[in-house]
Amino acid sequence: STPVVIDCDPGVDDAVALLLALASPELEVRGVSTVAGNVSLADVDRNAAHVLDLAGAPAGLPLVSGLAGPIARAARIRDEPMHGAGGLGGLVPQAPPRPFSAGHAVDWLAERALEAPGELTLVAVGPLSNVAAMLARHPQAGPALREIVVMGGAAFVQGNVTPAAEFNFHADPEAARYVLESGVPVRVVGLDVTRAALFPLASAERLAALPGTAGVAGGLLRDFALRYRDRFGVPAVPVHDALAVAAVSHPGLLGWEEGTASVECSGELTRGALVADLRTPDRERRVSIARTVDADAFAALLTDRLAGYAGG
Ligand code: BDR
Ligand code: CA
Repeated sequence: STPVVIDCDPGVDDAVALLLALASPELEVRGVSTVAGNVSLADVDRNAAHVLDLAGAPAGLPLVSGLAGPIARAARIRDEPMHGAGGLGGLVPQAPPRPFSAGHAVDWLAERALEAPGELTLVAVGPLSNVAAMLARHPQAGPALREIVVMGGAAFVQGNVTPAAEFNFHADPEAARYVLESGVPVRVVGLDVTRAALFPLASAERLAALPGTAGVAGGLLRDFALRYRDRFGVPAVPVHDALAVAAVSHPGLLGWEEGTASVECSGELTRGALVADLRTPDRERRVSIARTVDADAFAALLTDRLAGYAGG
């Protein structure tokens, strides 16, 4: 199985991504780190701990807190309603969640890379603040990673925060740029594919009727899908971050374009825009951008893996 660490900002789709990863025998989850994004770091931390409890993850699984805002800008928390109050659609932890591990995500991520050179995949599904700071502070860590799989950006379609920019890249554009230009192999799972892989409301409703954590996950997805339907009129919802996890466990779900890429940091209208250069075949090609997705296979995978939590 593929060793991974997951840097996230739960967030409903982050929560589903964690549940999917922890139910995937194709992956060996070596730990989880948090970064501010969808909600404040305090809320993200509480949510991440709660999700690991829901998943029945081992008590010893590292859970490490990270940066409370972007690397070069003032923190600004998302002011849109998709993730609901507190970030998990109003779901409030009943019991005190598990404690965090010692240390800081920026150092912990580097330690995990360096202890297993060439092995580790870093799945980053929030703003890239921790990842960029880690690469900058620990120059040996980037080359030790197998790859970074990022949920972020919109190379061929419109953004979701502005016409040009997707949330994770818009939240910390300098960090996103640093990661994409770092020379570490990066695979980008952006809105290009996450919006083409909508999870049906009806499937979420069926999951919500199941017992245990499967029902909780289904309820989260159902409410997420209902909020999306109210805004966009479609009875299905993108589960962005879970698709990034699936890109690691089931690489055949996605089709890729190879090139180089950067992120606009100073544009008046285009801050946070992903700019992919797919033109020149002779350049060093370090960034892959997902362009196509098998939406039905992804929905089936997610349904199957979440339904597996019905016993817990
Ligand atoms: C990304 O933004 C966040 O709201 C989601 O969790 C996902 O990581 C989608 O643009
Ligand atoms: Ca996220």
